[in-house]
Amino acid sequence: MRYPPAILDEIRARLPVSEVVRKRVQMKKAGREWKGLSPFNQEKSPSFYVNDQKGFYHCFSSGKHGDIFDFLMETEGLSFPETVERLAGEAGVSLPRPTMENLEAEKRRAGLHEVMELAAAFFEKEYAGRRGTNAREYVARRGMPQTLQKRFRIGYAPAERYALRDHLADKGVPGETMIEAGLLVSGEDIAVPFDRFRDRLIFPICDSRGRVVAFGGRALSADVPAKYLNSPDTPLFHKGTMLYNAHQARKAAHDKGVVVAVEGYMDVIAMAGMGFDNAVAPLGTALTEEQLAVLWRMADEPILCFDGDKAGRRAAFRALDVALARLPVGKSLRMAMLPAGQDPDDLAREGGAAAMERVLEAALPLIDVLWARETEAGPLETPEQRAAFERRLHQALRVISDETLQRHYRDAINERLAQQFRGAGRRSGGYERGGGRQGGGAGGGYARGPRAGWQQEAPGMRLPQGYRPSPALLRSGLFARPDPDIPAAAAPREATIVAAFVAHPHLLEEHAETLAALELASPEARRLRGFLLDYIAEDNTAEAEYVALSLRRAGLADTYQALHARMVPSLRWILDPHADGLRVEDALRQAIILHRRAHTLHTELKAAARALAEDDSEANLAWMRDVQVQLSSLEGAEADRED
Ligand code: UTP
Ligand code: MN
Repeated sequence: MRYPPAILDEIRARLPVSEVVRKRVQMKKAGREWKGLSPFNQEKSPSFYVNDQKGFYHCFSSGKHGDIFDFLMETEGLSFPETVERLAGEAGVSLPRPTMENLEAEKRRAGLHEVMELAAAFFEKEYAGRRGTNAREYVARRGMPQTLQKRFRIGYAPAERYALRDHLADKGVPGETMIEAGLLVSGEDIAVPFDRFRDRLIFPICDSRGRVVAFGGRALSADVPAKYLNSPDTPLFHKGTMLYNAHQARKAAHDKGVVVAVEGYMDVIAMAGMGFDNAVAPLGTALTEEQLAVLWRMADEPILCFDGDKAGRRAAFRALDVALARLPVGKSLRMAMLPAGQDPDDLAREGGAAAMERVLEAALPLIDVLWARETEAGPLETPEQRAAFERRLHQALRVISDETLQRHYRDAINERLAQQFRGAGRRSGGYERGGGRQGGGAGGGYARGPRAGWQQEAPGMRLPQGYRPSPALLRSGLFARPDPDIPAAAAPREATIVAAFVAHPHLLEEHAETLAALELASPEARRLRGFLLDYIAEDNTAEAEYVALSLRRAGLADTYQALHARMVPSLRWILDPHADGLRVEDALRQAIILHRRAHTLHTELKAAARALAEDDSEANLAWMRDVQVQLSSLEGAEADRED
């Protein structure tokens, strides 16, 4: 307990509950009490009461009850110490004086805060200025609007070795302080400490009060060794206990009742761009238990959202153990997996908020994630394998600290085990839900396809015989194949895109990252892409002739021929070395946009097909049709260009 109870009582005595509440909720006097609409629930007739004599509020609709401290924590999502600080200020009560030692440390930290703020302002100014041109172009290319750039205080650290150091020295900041703040690289073998962040896009990292405590710096091109460089731990910054954007997300998380943890800085910003202000990210490490605790303070059931790649799945499976071990009573957690090959930033560009909404809705409870992880770990055909499977499941549950909770988890797992392996003997026939309506129904022609095929659609994992994953599990993407099969229509387009880069390698200087991130279906296209990315990473000249030469040397001539043969016929001109540069770039950009869009739509089409197979409602049917219409108009757009 950090605050003596007497102090808290003093604050309570000076601040009537109604005074604190009425700043946030409209209340009417009703006898000795105050009455108003519940801030916790949507309601039409008031059921929220405040009694100043008793020093409590009571909400009949939600059953919530508490004093002024509870009220602020509940409605603003503040932590207890923050609430005490705030209300002590309002009440004019001074909090206990820290010891001399604390005072000293406090002063040092205040100094560091100031320096970090100066640095953040410097980076912002550089970003806006002449030296920031490159950085601004990069950000614009990635489609981040100005409002978000400002809100997240995007900056730029110039390439010069001493830019920030000199700037801060001019303001009278001692070199030692800069080092303590983690802004300079120093060490025994470094004679003159120099700027840590050079030629990097800067993401300021703030503490829960919105004060800048660290920076993340992103390289502006793919050939710089570390994509991100982060501040080291300092007296202000402990990367394992903080979350990027926590200060802005907290209020939104509280209002929405949910917080979403994504993987990276860009993802958080992309989420904000889609209207999800309640997103945070860890800071260059896997999610720690401390960070989980912060998430649980923000919402009862946070969602961890992982990228749709191998690393994302691994991260999800790792987070599962931490979550189970730390699961507080009354809280829980869900995990969402993005479509294959995508992160929230990609999704923002392609599917937008609606697609993200669907991903979050499909988030799985922990027990499903556990089941998925252990099912994937090995075959489940022999009794020995199944016994090992069962042991692993129970082993994982052993870390749950609350006994009752652990028992319920065990019961749930046992029930599933019984269900799965009881059904193991009879494995023919379709998947029957409840009434077992097969085919037919409103789904008509659609329903048959997906329903017949979706059992094989659970790729990547080895299913126990007779085991049928729930539709929610399938939809979640946890079982998604790393390389979803892209329909044949994609082949000419991707062949065109890759061949265009071979013919005009200078385009790689600007678009290498785009190329790297494309979903490519054919092995030839992927192999050539790998070659191209290696080629420019090695700083080779961007001349078409040299590319052609080293392509032959690498034994890829046939691969290129195969690709060449598959190109969109009307776009063959793009290979002409004398074609107008702007026209080439424009055609390439168009092709890439179409390609990405088609990929997203195909992913969505699968999701729609699965939803329809599970529940052939009007809504699902409409969804499916909508995606199909969009797809055919997309292919139409391409055909138009071809004639
Ligand atoms: P990502 O590679 O997913 O980065 O790493 P991102 O944020 O989506 O950025 P873009 O889209 O590539 O520009 C996720 C997070 O992991 C940390 C960063 O915190 C990053 O945001 N990271 C990544 C590092 O700390 N160092 C690295 O070299 C890479
Ligand atoms: Mn990214």
